[in-house]
Amino acid sequence: MTDIDHTAMTRAYAKWAPVYDALCGPFFRSGRQAAAALARSLGRDILEIGVGTGLSFADYRSDNRITGIDASPEMIAKATSRLRTGNHPQVEDLEVMDAHELSFPEASFDVIVAQFVITLVQNPERVLDEAFRVLRPGGSIVLVNHFYSEAGPLAAVERGAGQAARRLGLRPDFPFARIETWCRLNGAVQVVKREKLAPFGWFTLVHLRRTDIDTGGAWTARTYPA
Ligand SMILES: C[S@@+](CC[C@H](N)C(=O)[O-])C[C@H]1O[C@@H](n2cnc3c(N)ncnc32)[C@H](O)[C@@H]1O
Repeated sequence: MTDIDHTAMTRAYAKWAPVYDALCGPFFRSGRQAAAALARSLGRDILEIGVGTGLSFADYRSDNRITGIDASPEMIAKATSRLRTGNHPQVEDLEVMDAHELSFPEASFDVIVAQFVITLVQNPERVLDEAFRVLRPGGSIVLVNHFYSEAGPLAAVERGAGQAARRLGLRPDFPFARIETWCRLNGAVQVVKREKLAPFGWFTLVHLRRTDIDTGGAWTARTYPA
């Protein structure tokens, strides 16, 4: 398994930041919106990992409390400008932070969302461990991404294209099986949903849930209308 170099990735996003909304925004819109719609139905306190330029802010409910982190100072600067418009009062905090080392205490959020991020971090399992740590028991992790095919002719084509994608800071191959293995090893995470999104089935929406429900009674899972 080839890994992504974190420094190269942040350098790449320093270059992407000025043009990201125009070039990448529309391409990722359907997946981004599907993930936000699921996240906002699952809880109030939401951490968005790899928040980028904050394109998803408008997709949350006004009574959500959104925290966004991103490893790229340039992407966070764009998100901060968007926040300064005053149009997104549900966004409480934006910080430059590496998803491998979140500074939040355990059990801080109802939902962790990562849109088009998990396949490009240096150590996806470590990022999922951190997401699990800051998630309240019973809470959810929502991912949206393209996951590479594991077999068949498409798998070979995707791996070839993936080598070129690496220059953009993307991982050449990342099958969904890697997420399933992490869930199995963790032992307290269940795959609730794995859904290919219309129109082409290129992106997959994933809902993982922490199954170790808190017995202390301090926190009750909240469900919101989508
Ligand atoms: C493809 S962009 C997606 C941005 C946003 N989620 C969206 O859908 O528009 C990937 C983002 O993940 C961020 N990222 C990559 N590795 C990260 C890490 N280890 N910690 C935090 N953010 C990271 C990048 O800086 C970039 O902003």
